[in-house]
Amino acid sequence: MSSHSIVFLAQPAGALQGDIRVPGDKSMSHRSIMLGSLAEGTTHVKGFLEGEDALATLNAFRAMGVQIDGPSGGEVTIHGVGLHGLQAPSEDIYLGNSGTSIRLIAGLMAGQAFDVTMTGDASLSKRPMNRVAVPLREMGAVVDADEGGRPPLTVRGGSRLEAISYDMPMASAQVKSCVLLAGLYADGITEVTEPAPTRDHTERMLRGFGYDVDVQGNKVRLAGGGQLTATNIDVPSDISSAAFYMVAASITPGSDLTLRHVGINPTRIGIVNILRLMGAIIEIFNEREVGGEPVADIRVQYAPLRGIEIPEDQVPLAIDEFPVLFVAAACAEGQTILTGAEELRVKESDRIQVMADGLLALGVDAQPTEDGIVINSGPIGSGEIWSHGDHRIAMSFAVASLRAAGAIRINGAEHVATSFPGFVELANGVGFNIQVIED
Ligand code: S3P
Repeated sequence: MSSHSIVFLAQPAGALQGDIRVPGDKSMSHRSIMLGSLAEGTTHVKGFLEGEDALATLNAFRAMGVQIDGPSGGEVTIHGVGLHGLQAPSEDIYLGNSGTSIRLIAGLMAGQAFDVTMTGDASLSKRPMNRVAVPLREMGAVVDADEGGRPPLTVRGGSRLEAISYDMPMASAQVKSCVLLAGLYADGITEVTEPAPTRDHTERMLRGFGYDVDVQGNKVRLAGGGQLTATNIDVPSDISSAAFYMVAASITPGSDLTLRHVGINPTRIGIVNILRLMGAIIEIFNEREVGGEPVADIRVQYAPLRGIEIPEDQVPLAIDEFPVLFVAAACAEGQTILTGAEELRVKESDRIQVMADGLLALGVDAQPTEDGIVINSGPIGSGEIWSHGDHRIAMSFAVASLRAAGAIRINGAEHVATSFPGFVELANGVGFNIQVIED
């Protein structure tokens, strides 16, 4: 995974035009492997994201004895082993850059009979795991982490789990999902209360596998001891990947781009809401439902954007899109203020600091705050930035190059492969000018 370094040399380009489909949703791809592996019967997945993060999950379940065919052209066949059919892996499970893998799998491992140790790359090894270790221990699991609650994370087997009612201290779909997945193995009814709506793909997909999940307001409940029944899954395009193209078309004069078959789950739609508040022209059409998830085509045309105060209720709904939204803010007339987004500091990188550093290096006035940022629009210069092991930072500065005075050199661009294989080919096909240099 990401064994060699890559640099993007991203140059200003003309208007963007095209009709494209970005790769499959990362969150749903992870969950399709997890639930398909634990189901009774054979699950077929279409539109699976063949990025390193989702492949890390796939390899983890193979290492625990699940036969998985593919992926090939986005198709995967999973021969489910049932909730109690996993086998002990012969070595530690390496999960690369993927926070979703480690946190969700931790929940499932709490219910197994064997021990598992999970490791990751330099970025994942810095990320907080106490947010899952604390509720899992409350359920009766034995979980060991490194100093400061960092990976490697070991979950010991053979614990008897008791259901809990967990009041989540932060708005995190990974924590919610971890507790619910452990709840499949717990005695009683597990309940999670969230402080704000977070992505609900786990709840929707559990239902798709025939498992009862009760959602009332901000509470999600499920009873342990049921079973999952194999199903077919059609993963829509990832709105978080589409977001780079939405901002790209919005900031580049003359652009007109259509993005097909994009997941528009209401818990993921913040990017559209925020860009529209900034004056973007975004049309959502052909709305339909695919396998329990709303999907649509999205047309984005260039529009002069204006700075805004981003409503805090949109933060969890756009949590992965802020790096590229900061680029939109740099191009928007006036000032953009983000608050209530301290979670950005514990993503694949500290996205507040790393984006502020990168924008400042390009001459944009970007002031980080404890829980957000203040950006004053201004010309984007040429310069050099570092991804800090974070795919979305690299792609965001590729988008910034569309409005830059000259080339932006983006170091650490190999991490783009974690969520968006083929990003450069697709981007150059609609009018970007990105050169890939092996470092
Ligand atoms: C994800 C949840 C979010 C998001 C991540 C994927 C998921 O993380 O940032 O990219 O699939 O559940 P948090 O739960 O930490 O907010």
